[in-house]
Amino acid sequence: MRMYDIILKKRQGFELATEEINFFVRGYTAGEIPDYQAAALLMAIFFQGLNTRETADLTLAMAGSGDRVDLSGIPGCKVDKHSTGGVGDKTTLVLAPLVAAAGVPVAKMSGRGLGHTGGTVDKLESIPGFKVTLAPEDFVRQVREVGVAVVAQTGNLVPADKKLYALRDVTATVDSIPLIASSVMSKKIAAGAEAIVLDVKAGSGAFMRTVEEACTLARAMVAIGRQAGRKTVAVITDMDQPLGFAVGNALEVREAIETLSGRGPSDLKELCLVLGGHMLVLAGAVKDVAEGVDRLSGLLERGRALDKFREMVKAQGGDPRVADEPHLLPEASYREQVKAETDGYVAGIHTERVGRVAMLLGAGRKTKEDTIDPSVGIVLHKKLGDRVRTGDVLATLHFNSAENLSAARQLIAGAFTLTSSVPGVKKLVHGVIDENDIMD
Ligand code: URA
Repeated sequence: MRMYDIILKKRQGFELATEEINFFVRGYTAGEIPDYQAAALLMAIFFQGLNTRETADLTLAMAGSGDRVDLSGIPGCKVDKHSTGGVGDKTTLVLAPLVAAAGVPVAKMSGRGLGHTGGTVDKLESIPGFKVTLAPEDFVRQVREVGVAVVAQTGNLVPADKKLYALRDVTATVDSIPLIASSVMSKKIAAGAEAIVLDVKAGSGAFMRTVEEACTLARAMVAIGRQAGRKTVAVITDMDQPLGFAVGNALEVREAIETLSGRGPSDLKELCLVLGGHMLVLAGAVKDVAEGVDRLSGLLERGRALDKFREMVKAQGGDPRVADEPHLLPEASYREQVKAETDGYVAGIHTERVGRVAMLLGAGRKTKEDTIDPSVGIVLHKKLGDRVRTGDVLATLHFNSAENLSAARQLIAGAFTLTSSVPGVKKLVHGVIDENDIMD
């Protein structure tokens, strides 16, 4: 088999055989296929696409390219959740202990963030003492004993994706549906998930800007799940404004704790209940999503989810007092309010711009080597549809260095669009895609 022939075949729009896809993934991971040939194939895939079978083959080959997490020592159906990413998305911080409190084990591997704010493990690391690296046997033991663990992805999980993602990043081939779908699903499969709930975001703060694009990506991922024998459901959710009010690592942990306490922003709470409801259905713990939502609401109200969060934090070496005394989380030295200069209603929040502000303040990283400041970020005071009067606070910036402050101030003020008429109400959940909705 020759890599040249595989590239040509795909360039001409033909279907690749399973053996050809395996040959490519194995050879590229082992360093036997050079970057220039892999890049040429990625570009051919970008233009010609992959069908469902090819995408599933690529996913399984990638999932098998390194370590696989063995969760067989944990009784019950292990359901994972993945978000395609957005601004202020702290869902996992709430969802993991909440679902565990319902008796469904959560063994979650999460990434560090590149971009606006940190990823889930960066957020958790803002809790004093919290360890995100556990030996595989300790990870499994904690899930057995506590019901939940959230850790950083291990070094050799899906090495094919690490190499391919880095190559896609520099060859303008990131935004290809089959390549994104296989990248995401390979990591979920290697992490041991038996069932997967996908939160696919659509909007100005998401990878997929429109609901239609998000549905296409969701269908591709659900189809892979079906081919790979993993029950998979995708929920299409709105990212035309940040989720909740807080954007920034410790600020988001604080908001997650409020939500676990039964308070918190209504959009974050609703999203966690819906995603959690689907997780409970896939795990076989409830008959439908409505029953799942009901069960989880009760756990939030009775403080059971917050108890589980405390237990998880303690088990991973963190200070469990943060659950009751959030001021123990890192706080920035300075705050500045950004105020409205006219009256109106919030008709738009340019979400990606809010993310860029977080980055300017130091909450995110541009390269893998950058360090993040856990204490900085933004707290919004107004969301879509809110009435605003001149002088009302739109957002508070939390910062430690004034270096990028004026740029941040300008960007955040410009992120809000105010209109004189009341804007229409935006839906948080645009739809659900399961195995019955996919087209091959
Ligand atoms: N996230 C991933 O994990 N992979 C992609 O290709 C895009 C987003």
